Amino acid sequence: MLVLGIESSCDETAASVVRDGRVMLSNVIASQIDVHRKYGGVVPEIASRKHVEAVIPVILESLEKAEVTLDRIDGIAVTCGPGLVGSLLVGLSTAKAIAYTQNIPFVGVNHLEGHIAAVFLMENPPVLPFVALVVSGGHTNIYLVEPEGKYTLKGQTKDDAAGEAFDKAAKMLDIGYPGGVVIDKMSKTGNCRKYDFPRAMKDSNDFSFSGLKTSLLNMLKKRSTPLAPEELPDVVASYQEAIMDVLVEKTLRVAVEASVSRVVVCGGVAANSRLRERFREDGDRKKIDVFIPPPVLCTDNAGMIAAAGYTLLKRGIRSDLNLNAVSRWPAARG
Ligand code: KG4
Ligand code: ZN
Repeated sequence: MLVLGIESSCDETAASVVRDGRVMLSNVIASQIDVHRKYGGVVPEIASRKHVEAVIPVILESLEKAEVTLDRIDGIAVTCGPGLVGSLLVGLSTAKAIAYTQNIPFVGVNHLEGHIAAVFLMENPPVLPFVALVVSGGHTNIYLVEPEGKYTLKGQTKDDAAGEAFDKAAKMLDIGYPGGVVIDKMSKTGNCRKYDFPRAMKDSNDFSFSGLKTSLLNMLKKRSTPLAPEELPDVVASYQEAIMDVLVEKTLRVAVEASVSRVVVCGGVAANSRLRERFREDGDRKKIDVFIPPPVLCTDNAGMIAAAGYTLLKRGIRSDLNLNAVSRWPAARG
């Protein structure tokens, strides 16, 4: 079964053709990072306009790279939430138009379920059940994932998402955009034990990152001189480690509590090299198998949407042409 996936929930216009929910034949991503860089964050109105320009060329390129034509496509999977509604509508309307004119079944996919499904595109994917940490620019959620699309929320952020904590820190320090990528790289030369940033809500499986952000701000304010460039790596490495400590500890704890020995880590922040290292090390110690998709499948892409859509289509789930885009939508199909 060939599924065409379409993703446009934030600042990436993406399309992918996936065979049987497992084999990615193409994965085309048009990123708007350069457009939003000068604003220091995604500007929703600009994002929608850029999606309009990119969506058709990106879909055509994904078909071409997969060496298929539309008449070979068995189903279309499209992100319809959560995300920026104006951006989501571009992908969704395009998917509906193709589905209607070509008479192809289509299904709306939850972006968070998409991030989790990226793991099925790996060579040796985990069997269900597993615990999944979805850690991105908008979400930091821990789920117990069971067969038949059952997602039980076990922990979530009470304020900022981990990706936001990266992006806002980079903005405060004026070190570049997007923050997560810059901090990841800069931390490699820093001492992550130099500064002691707070680890919030230690005994809970929920997260809070606003105190961490404030403590960085206070540290900057207290100084009489700005941070020198050579001081930055220690600061960002210590800040990053505070985020890692809580992500790793809480996710592995949920797995132990649920008596599950497999953990999936996904979403944009899962592209972080220190996160990948920490989860592997601590997972080994706790005898938990950790599955993290390759970085290109952690950040937004349409392969993951096609993989998630495949499992829905196979279960006979279809959307109709009245389907709308939604800004908030928990992954919780029971
Ligand atoms: O999943 P994603 O591409 O979009 C959302 O659904 O939000 O995640 C974007 C987030 C941004 O906050 C970005 O800074 C973060 O993922 N990110 C990273 C890295 N690459 C992307 N954070 C830490 N380290 C990275 N290497
Ligand atoms: Zn995402």
